Amino acid sequence: MDFIIVDNYEEMSKRARDIFVEKVNKKPNAVLGLATGSTPERFYELLIDAYKQNNVSFENATSFNLDEYVGVSPDNSQSYHHYMNEKLFNHINLPAKQANLPEGETEDLQEACNKYEEKIKNAGGVDLQLLGIGLNGHIGFNEPGTPFDQETHVVDLAPSTREANARFFDSIDEVPTKAITMGIKTIMQSKQIVLLISGEKKADCLYQLVNDPISEDFPASILREHPNVTIIADKAAASKINK
Ligand code: F6R
Repeated sequence: MDFIIVDNYEEMSKRARDIFVEKVNKKPNAVLGLATGSTPERFYELLIDAYKQNNVSFENATSFNLDEYVGVSPDNSQSYHHYMNEKLFNHINLPAKQANLPEGETEDLQEACNKYEEKIKNAGGVDLQLLGIGLNGHIGFNEPGTPFDQETHVVDLAPSTREANARFFDSIDEVPTKAITMGIKTIMQSKQIVLLISGEKKADCLYQLVNDPISEDFPASILREHPNVTIIADKAAASKINK
């Protein structure tokens, strides 16, 4: 694992932008894996700026998001489809048909998972995957205990994840209980991974990621076995591993 420790959230976002812009410039038809949440918000703004300044074009790129809530329609403002449209897709030239998210509002969820996995494979796999990390070590929505060999699947969200995400909803009761997520196996098949981690409240999490045994109890620990992972952490998140 490569470590980049930077001063703050802004610098973390800029480093991530540089890696993504460089990848798409080198490989215009790159397959990008994308994440939602608070962590990549500034990164997406910077990616939009890079596009507007003609430093990058997404015309031939393809994207696959990590996850989507089950039972939430794509135009619902709480959906990850909506998040991605607002924060990125509406502002860049990535064609809509090349921007993929799991289909969380469908009768046959298993089929939706299989189709998603197949689509990723047909696209040649993910070249560059962006990850955030949950306080319990989840990546995507692979909560503690998720087998490492799972592909895209339906998950029950951990109570702590629903609590953490309640800030995006009017009340915790509105936070969905299930999601579709790329599995750990799917994520580990990405050719390159960039994990962003910011803020003091994630300091224990980064400590665990670096020091805990590789175990399904802390899903992100598996990343230590991936050959090409870069962790970009701000000083606050890295405060416990620096000492
Ligand atoms: C989001 C995702 C999650 C988040 C994680 C951290 O698509 O897959 O794993 O990356 O929950 O979320 P934030 O960035 O809000 O702390």
